[in-house]
Amino acid sequence: MKKNWALAAILSLVGVASPAFGQGQLNLYCSVQVEWCQAIATNFERDTKVKVAMTQKGSGETFAQIRAEAQNPKADVWFGGTGDPHMAAAEENLTVAYESANLKDLHPWARKQWEQSNKRAVGVYAGALGFGFNRELLAKKNQAAPACWADLVKPGFKGEIQMANPNSSGTAYVMIATLVQLMGEDKSFEYMKALHPNINAYTRSGTAPIKAVARGETGVSISFVHDAVVEANAGFPADYATPCEGTGFEIGSMSIIAGSRNLPNARKFYDWALTAPAQRLGYDAGKQLQTPANMSAPLPPKAPDLTKMKLIDYDFAKYGKAAERKRLIERWDRDIGSLPRG
Ligand code: G6P
Repeated sequence: MKKNWALAAILSLVGVASPAFGQGQLNLYCSVQVEWCQAIATNFERDTKVKVAMTQKGSGETFAQIRAEAQNPKADVWFGGTGDPHMAAAEENLTVAYESANLKDLHPWARKQWEQSNKRAVGVYAGALGFGFNRELLAKKNQAAPACWADLVKPGFKGEIQMANPNSSGTAYVMIATLVQLMGEDKSFEYMKALHPNINAYTRSGTAPIKAVARGETGVSISFVHDAVVEANAGFPADYATPCEGTGFEIGSMSIIAGSRNLPNARKFYDWALTAPAQRLGYDAGKQLQTPANMSAPLPPKAPDLTKMKLIDYDFAKYGKAAERKRLIERWDRDIGSLPRG
C-alpha cells in the first residue's frame, strides 16, 4: 500500500497519468451556451476520469483566440459555435484532421461539414436563424411581430431590435452570409444600413439579444430560433419566427486544435461527443434545443424543426473561407459598425 502511494506520488509529480489519479487532462474551448459547456465538461470528466478545463466564448472570439495562440496552443478541442469559423480555422491549419469511428452515426449534413473541411471540422448540431421577440412587450406597443426580413426595417421597430457583432459572434456572421445569399452582396449591405436605426445594440455574444428580449429590454432580436425556445421554456414571454423570404442556418461544429498537447484525450473527447448519450446532454443537462448531429439522439421536445422551415442552401464552403469571412466582416465594420447610433 505504502509503495503504491509512493509510486502514485512520483507519477503525479512527473505528470504521468495513473488510473487512480485520473487520465490526464483536456483543455476545452466551448462556444455553445455555458449550461451545455458545463454539462459536457462534467460528464466527460465523470465518464473518462480526464480532468477538463473549459473556457466558454463566442465563435468569432474563440477563432481569434486560437489564431493568436497558434505558436503556443493552449487548447485541445473546440466544441460548438457556428461552422463558418471552424471552416476558416481548418483552412488556416489551426485545426487538424481526424476520422472518428462514430462519424457513421451522424446525419449527412454533419458529415458533409467534415468532408468540406478536409476532415478537420465535424457537425455536432444544427440550428436555424430567425427572429426572437417578446410577445408582451410588442403587444403593449401594439406592434405586430416581425415575419419577414422586410419587416425589420420598418419605422415601427425603431430602436427596438438587438443583434450581435459579427467580429465576436458567429450568429451575426451567419446573418450577414444569409442576407448576402438571399439578396446579393450590395443589396444586403443596403438592407443592413436601412436596419441600423432600428438596432439598439450590437452585442458581443450571439445569445445576448434573445436574453434581452426575454427580460423585456428589447422587443426583437436576430437570433438562432432554438435559443428563443430555451428562454420560453425558462418561463419568459419569448417567441420566434423564421423569415418568410427564407433563412440561413448553422452547422455547429467541433475541431481538434493543431499542436494539442493532449492529443489522445482530444480524440477521446471528440469520439465521446459524437455518441448519442453525449449528444442528448445538450437538452437533458444543458436545456439546449439544437438539432443533434447523431441520428440516434432525438430532436428535443419543442425544438424548432428545421425540416419544416424555408431554408436557403447555405454555402458553407464559400462563407466558411477565411478570406471571405474576413472580407465580409471588414465591410460590415466599414459600412455598418462605424455608423453613428440612430
Ligand atoms: C448559442 C447557440 C448556438 C450557437 C452559438 C453561437 O450558444 O445556441 O447554437 O452556435 O450561440 O454563439 P456566438 O456568440 O458565436 O454567436
